[in-house]
Amino acid sequence: MEKDYFIERKPMPFRIKTVEHVKMTTKAEREKLIAEAYYNVFNLKARDVYIDLLTDSGTGAMSKEQWAAIMMGDESYAGADSFLKFKQAINDVLGFDFVLPTHQGRGAENVFTKAFVKEGDIIPGNMHFDTTEAQIEDKKGIGKEFVIDEAYDPQLIHPFKGNVNISKLEQFLQKNRDKVPLFILTVTCNSGGGQPVSMRNIKELSAVLKKFEVPLFFDIARFAENAYFIKHRESGYENKTISEIILEMMSYADVVSCSAKKDPLGNIGGFLAMRTEDYFDKLKPFVILNEGFITYGGLSGRALEALAVGLHESTSEEHLAYRISQVHYLGKLLDDAGIPIVKPVGGHGVFVDGLKFFPHIPQDNFPSQALTVYLYIESGVRGVEIGNLLAGRDPQTGKNRYPKVDTLRLAIPRRVYTNEHMEYVAEGLKKIYKDREKYKGFEMVYEPPFLRHFSAKLKKVE
Ligand SMILES: Cc1ncc(COP(=O)(O)O)c(C=O)c1O
Repeated sequence: MEKDYFIERKPMPFRIKTVEHVKMTTKAEREKLIAEAYYNVFNLKARDVYIDLLTDSGTGAMSKEQWAAIMMGDESYAGADSFLKFKQAINDVLGFDFVLPTHQGRGAENVFTKAFVKEGDIIPGNMHFDTTEAQIEDKKGIGKEFVIDEAYDPQLIHPFKGNVNISKLEQFLQKNRDKVPLFILTVTCNSGGGQPVSMRNIKELSAVLKKFEVPLFFDIARFAENAYFIKHRESGYENKTISEIILEMMSYADVVSCSAKKDPLGNIGGFLAMRTEDYFDKLKPFVILNEGFITYGGLSGRALEALAVGLHESTSEEHLAYRISQVHYLGKLLDDAGIPIVKPVGGHGVFVDGLKFFPHIPQDNFPSQALTVYLYIESGVRGVEIGNLLAGRDPQTGKNRYPKVDTLRLAIPRRVYTNEHMEYVAEGLKKIYKDREKYKGFEMVYEPPFLRHFSAKLKKVE
């Protein structure tokens, strides 16, 4: 049998101390609520959602140690103790000496694209996340994908689908070096399904970029999950600790940009970290201009405290084993039911293949968005479309982009839901799958000029 890379169930390394009640709604109520939201789940009130898998960003549960640290917040404008702890945690966990906090990931992206990207530049990466792509385009640059071809086939099994196609990149750089200010490697690769990048690929990438003198930037929103996959899938790493693997990964990056709302277990926050002072000096003025003074970057002292603790917790192997195995548990339930998912399952969510689930709905009618809407109606579960709606239009041609991987993403918040919740999610999808021919697609009623998925209004195709 083909190796499927599902990670088996692992024990929950925590117990529940505080309960957050959720409201139960009926199917008829949800039909009405989603219609009022113009069939866009971003317009729903969170209180009308039973299980919220919209994102794993900022939605994690903090530990009692994080809550305790919040009480230690030093809210001084400059040089606060909380910043020094945050900086130390980044140094311990990631190995960087220079740190610039930002209010969240896109704040960091705005800063580094402002400092490095000019009109006409091409920014290669494995696959840029939507906010990264939008920040590049905002500076009149162009993002370009160099992920391996296997990433575009949702059913194809490969242990590191976030890897870069090194030879393709090398050929590209031979002709276009002058237009390329930097390369962005996203670990894990969110847009490709939360897929990891191997250490070997990182090393090869670093060597090629060194040859062409192109700086290597990492988007490290999910660095610890990537390290877990390296440990469990890449030979030579099975006996290394997660911390050792993280430090080795980071040793290849010149600058990292992080949304601290993911692996670092924060409800808010982000940062840039770098090895040398020249990058720090180049980025610093843009942090002051856009985020805040360089020792808080738009964050409160208490948020910095929570992140300092969260960064350390994120590297626990038990935490990662449970976290990733829970995501895989949901994936396995769906796969066993014949529901088409992106395989192997990545680190932070299960991506259901909307094109295969609803083959009768044309891509222009947003099959994955349709699945997102119908799942909410069926069971009160909120996922999100990562497909045609999110991909938006090509700024040059104004035409819809047609991503090859067009999915409903079920992103699992860290330490929030149990495996019983996962079973409930799977049941809802199974019900829809059974009668899948009867469901219709959607069309646009209102479309903003960029990041359209956040505020688009849709209606059902008649
Ligand atoms: C890979 C990646 N980069 C950047 C971001 C943007 O971060 P934020 O939402 O904190 O602005 C995200 C958010 O989902 C992400 O997944």
